[in-house]
Amino acid sequence: MRSPSLGLLLVLTAIWVAGLSHAAKNEDKASLRTAFADHFLVGVALNTAQIDGRSPKEAEIAAMQFSSLTPENDLKWQSLQPWPGRYDFKRADAYADFAEKHRMKLIGHTLVWHSQTPAWVFQGEDGKPATRELLLKRMRDHIQMVVGRYKGRIHGWDVVNEALADGGPETLRDSPWKRIIGDDFIDQAFRFAKEADPKAELYYNDYGLEDPRKRARCIAMLRGLIERGVPIDGVGTQSHFQLSQPPLAEVEETIKQISALGLKVMVTELDVDVLPSRGAAGIADINRREQADPALNPYADGLPEEIQGKLASRYAELFQVYLKYPKSVTRVTLWGLHDGQSWLNHFPIRGRSNYPLLIDRSLKPKPAFFAVLKDASSEKR
Ligand code: G3I
Repeated sequence: MRSPSLGLLLVLTAIWVAGLSHAAKNEDKASLRTAFADHFLVGVALNTAQIDGRSPKEAEIAAMQFSSLTPENDLKWQSLQPWPGRYDFKRADAYADFAEKHRMKLIGHTLVWHSQTPAWVFQGEDGKPATRELLLKRMRDHIQMVVGRYKGRIHGWDVVNEALADGGPETLRDSPWKRIIGDDFIDQAFRFAKEADPKAELYYNDYGLEDPRKRARCIAMLRGLIERGVPIDGVGTQSHFQLSQPPLAEVEETIKQISALGLKVMVTELDVDVLPSRGAAGIADINRREQADPALNPYADGLPEEIQGKLASRYAELFQVYLKYPKSVTRVTLWGLHDGQSWLNHFPIRGRSNYPLLIDRSLKPKPAFFAVLKDASSEKR
């Protein structure tokens, strides 16, 4: 794989910093959305403050750089229907307006997930667990209401998120959805979503699909969905990566195996964790925690150039893989606009300084940003 030299990338960064206003006037020169327009959508996860007018500079950068938008948290069940039948669409509507104003494809994240779903969803009238019928009704009502409201405005939905188990031998994670409804909760969710908006793209979304064992379970599950005629269009491979894991060969193999099933592949939550870890790195389960230790927060005062260079090379190599599969990879979304916003500052240990994205805390593009842009221009030659 070609890796850009750190020297060159640092020079490019310096040019950007020196001529920020000039660069802004020449959008095409440094815009990811333009550079990758012939290949795939380039998306970003944003939070409320970035689209409701509180962070105008961040909104401007997001609109200039990205052609797709995923609300990081505001379309999760607990945000949309915190109490039975009481929906709150204020923030979701703001994303839909923002995406339309800036011609960004809006992604709905997410309909059915074991996390960020209020406890009442899984409870019956009498404090006992809900019955299968009741939970299916709640699932259908939620999907009809939410997907129906944004029919024609939301391009694609992460219909089911993280249903697969991390270890074996069970294929599916032990979640209230599986316990109460049974393994067919996935089929049902996709059918309800199709009913609510027949034209929206429908995705299964998960992390760790580069692990050969989890990938095998995922492929088997997808085969079953396809055989049963479940309306699925694509798979989101979240891609919460580290500097050297997973190996590029596994990233590529995952794309190949999913596209061999005739499904689209989306890289839905890309970031690269640069911090050391003692636990199960690569398992992006939000409930995973590690013991705090200053040794695990080595870059609190800034990222050394050497690591900055490694990060740039890692991003360059990943995008080179994505560019090899333009017919299958339809979108690559970064999980956050800038380092200061990333969930990885708080996972799996709170309050660390991580540097996983393309734009830094002061909203300047990093060498990794230019490395990715360079991939797009090399591809065109
Ligand atoms: O909104 C409250 C705020 O009122 C409160 O003061 C604050 C105190 O901690 O918490 C705020 O909520 C936090 C929320 O993010 C918004 O910032 C939650 O505690 C926190 O758990 C939540 O984390 C999100 C996490 O999903 C859980 O929903 C992360 O931002 C988000 O990046 C992360 O995204 C997930 C994807 O949805 C699925 N794949 C894995 C990915 C990373 O975990």
